[in-house]
Amino acid sequence: MRNALILALAIPTLAMAAAEKQQGLSVTYSAGGKSDTTTSRLAALYVSKSSPSTPFLPKGPFKAKMTGDITVPLRGEYTFAVEVRGQVKVSINGQEILDAAGAAAAQYADKTVQLTKGANPVVVEFFNDNEEDALLRLDWWSKEFPREPVPPTVWTHTPDVEGAKVREGRMLFATRHCASCHDGGAAIVKDGTGMPEMLATAPDLIDAGARFKQPWLAAWIENPRAIRPDATMPHLPLTKAQAADIAAYLATTGKPVKAEVKPADETVLGKGAGHFGNLGCVACHTAPDVTEADRENNRILLAHVGAKFQSGTLAEFLKMPGMHNPWTRMPNFRLTDDEAAELSAYILANAKAEFPDVKGDAESGRKLFAANCAACHQTTEPAPAPKASALAAVIAAGQKGCLSEKPDKAPDFGFTVAQREAVVAFLKTDLLSLKQDAFADFAERQIHHMNCTACHPRDGRQSTFQIVEGELAALTANAPHPEGQTEGNTVPATAVPHLTWLGEKLQPGWSGSFIAGAAPYKPRPWLASRMPGFGAPGVGIANGLAFQHGLPLTDAPQAAADKVVTEAGHKLLGADGGFNCVQCHAVKDVAATAVFEAPGINLAYSTERLRAGYFRRWMLAPLRIDPDTKMPKFSDDAVATQITDVLEGKADKQFDAIWQYLRTVK
Ligand code: HEC
Ligand code: HEC
Ligand code: HEC
Ligand code: HEC
Ligand code: HEC
Repeated sequence: MRNALILALAIPTLAMAAAEKQQGLSVTYSAGGKSDTTTSRLAALYVSKSSPSTPFLPKGPFKAKMTGDITVPLRGEYTFAVEVRGQVKVSINGQEILDAAGAAAAQYADKTVQLTKGANPVVVEFFNDNEEDALLRLDWWSKEFPREPVPPTVWTHTPDVEGAKVREGRMLFATRHCASCHDGGAAIVKDGTGMPEMLATAPDLIDAGARFKQPWLAAWIENPRAIRPDATMPHLPLTKAQAADIAAYLATTGKPVKAEVKPADETVLGKGAGHFGNLGCVACHTAPDVTEADRENNRILLAHVGAKFQSGTLAEFLKMPGMHNPWTRMPNFRLTDDEAAELSAYILANAKAEFPDVKGDAESGRKLFAANCAACHQTTEPAPAPKASALAAVIAAGQKGCLSEKPDKAPDFGFTVAQREAVVAFLKTDLLSLKQDAFADFAERQIHHMNCTACHPRDGRQSTFQIVEGELAALTANAPHPEGQTEGNTVPATAVPHLTWLGEKLQPGWSGSFIAGAAPYKPRPWLASRMPGFGAPGVGIANGLAFQHGLPLTDAPQAAADKVVTEAGHKLLGADGGFNCVQCHAVKDVAATAVFEAPGINLAYSTERLRAGYFRRWMLAPLRIDPDTKMPKFSDDAVATQITDVLEGKADKQFDAIWQYLRTVK
């Protein structure tokens, strides 16, 4: 009776929780008799025939059923078009509107329908037999705007709890290094063909004594989360004295060098604070004098950093954060020696947390290290790590040991209830997902893990950088202004490009090396901020972003254009009888003529950076892509332009001619 009452009360709340809509679409993939539900930002997909559609399903033929609502502000006529390699059916408001199939070349079909004001339920059913790479893109247009992919911001769906849970559990399993202690046997491959994050290691502790101060080491070992609430290193079952012993041992591994640190005067400190604001450190970190974690914005504390790093080593860390930790989430800003020294001086002058002096027994520490730390960390001396229960026993145990509410004899990762449930849900799967991965999933995980939206606005949401913009004035108050300016920065630090369309915009090859930090130039030299390098995951993120937008990794090769066309393109770029693009855009070595209008990117980079399809879409309607852009529209109706004497005044022909000309500029 009582249970029935509780049940009756519980049902409405569950129903309410389940009804909470989120942005994007819900997608259920099925293959080999299994299914997996996840969220997609767009009604689009690209799956290479040599990889699975999602990490949780076997390779081979698959189905994908996408459901979501398109919300429009007003009743009106919209045309939908689908491009497909595979078979697809699209229905809107219960009516089938498109049914198309394509093989080697993608098939295209379109249909005009009425959408009602408010939510219009859409169902997209897709099948691919795995003979070719699978491809799907749903576009739309109306009288108000030219053809574009249906944007992420108009979709809403009811999220699937289970799919999100196993994904979170899988990521926790990898990033918390469970398999370092709990041997997974054949379930885990270490040859790079599995889930990439399984290859990530904890930072190495080679020469730890030369880099870290002993009192900080002891405090960190005793309880990492007391120093940094975001720490992923577990709290281990050690006493204060044992932690002090291990710190004493680590202090013997490497001697601190007496670094010559220049006294930090006002100018240096002002510059350092300026970099901290302008470069975007402030988007991921609270200022070094702040001692309360900013959980709301997911920012990492730096107050302890003065007590952590040995003299001179903070600047080294800032210049190369991946030196001892190749999978670090702290990106590489390619700082100059001066920038690193200025930032370091500013942080050290303000990071005031202190830790008590402790003495310990290094010999006892050495043994404790081998027993407690060597599974995750490498030092100068190799130590074989003892193993805990095998993975099979962990799976059978459920919420025990490390997964119990309050671990006492096992490592404590500080998991929330939801996180523990997520790991358990993941461990109940067949663990196939540890042996394989899919780029689109990888990109989404890493964008979250690496916190790209700290700086980039995405899918209609502000970046953290924009949210905390108010802190910039104080940070940059004593920083020098750029040459030739009496106040402010060139372009505000927070004007970082939107991440939303980058998967469609950029050539994955270029984008991957840019995200990794290997691109040789800065496309927007006028920006006060800078894109830092994220190392190894860069290529996978770029590939996955392209796949999320339903695009292959490379465009089909284009034939060289006719000379008449390239010459027309050249003319259209210029001031004389053209659009005067060169007013804002440099082209190769020729500087823009009126740069202060609104600087644009050097167009000589366009064809190596951009995909042809995006260039066209951008030229037709820049504001549909970036609502903040200063780039003007050159065709009001996306059909004709003001320049009537070149290529019949047709917008698409003229913009293509510009593209063809740009292909000749190398
Ligand atoms: C540093 C080594 C280490 C890491 C990393 C680690 N564990 Fe453990 N785990 C232990 C030890 C030690 C125990 C307790 C003794 C034992 O079960 O072998 C334990 C126990 C467990 C148990 C109970 C096993 C049983 O047989 O009762 C579970 C479940 C568990 N861990 C899950 C996890 C998960 C999930 C992760 C990753 C989030 C993880 N562990 C990471 C060392 C580790
Ligand atoms: C995209 C987010 C991001 C940005 C931007 C960023 N950091 Fe970090 N930083 C991190 C993360 C995450 C860590 C923790 C290291 C890890 O988990 O791998 C970290 C670690 C650090 C540490 C060491 C903290 C410790 O406890 O050892 C310092 C110092 C630091 N960052 C300074 C900076 C400075 C200075 C800048 C700007 C030039 C900056 N960070 C920009 C994410 C970021
Ligand atoms: C489950 C794996 C794991 C175990 C076990 C572990 N650590 Fe860590 N440790 C990490 C990770 C991951 C980090 C990076 C910071 C973070 O995310 O918490 C870290 C960071 C550190 C750092 C700072 C390194 C740097 O470059 O900033 C030290 C020092 C350290 N650990 C010492 C130890 C010691 C000593 C032990 C044993 C008592 C130990 N760790 C056990 C995973 C582990
Ligand atoms: C510290 C702030 C910051 C973080 C964090 C950051 N970015 Fe950027 N990103 C920028 C800035 C600034 C630019 C513009 C750089 C330029 O053009 O010179 C940029 C540009 C880019 C571009 C090129 C866009 C274009 O149109 O040229 C890509 C792609 C990109 N970022 C992806 C990422 C990804 C993926 C992540 C996370 C792994 C990330 N960014 C994290 C600041 C950041
Ligand atoms: C009033 C200044 C202005 C004029 C005139 C202008 N643009 Fe732009 N353009 C911009 C701005 C601003 C951006 C966005 C830069 C950014 O992403 O930070 C841009 C971006 C672009 C891009 C994307 C570049 C990339 O690599 O990301 C292309 C391509 C482009 N413009 C082409 C043109 C062409 C072709 C013309 C002439 C038909 C033109 N623009 C005229 C200001 C201008």
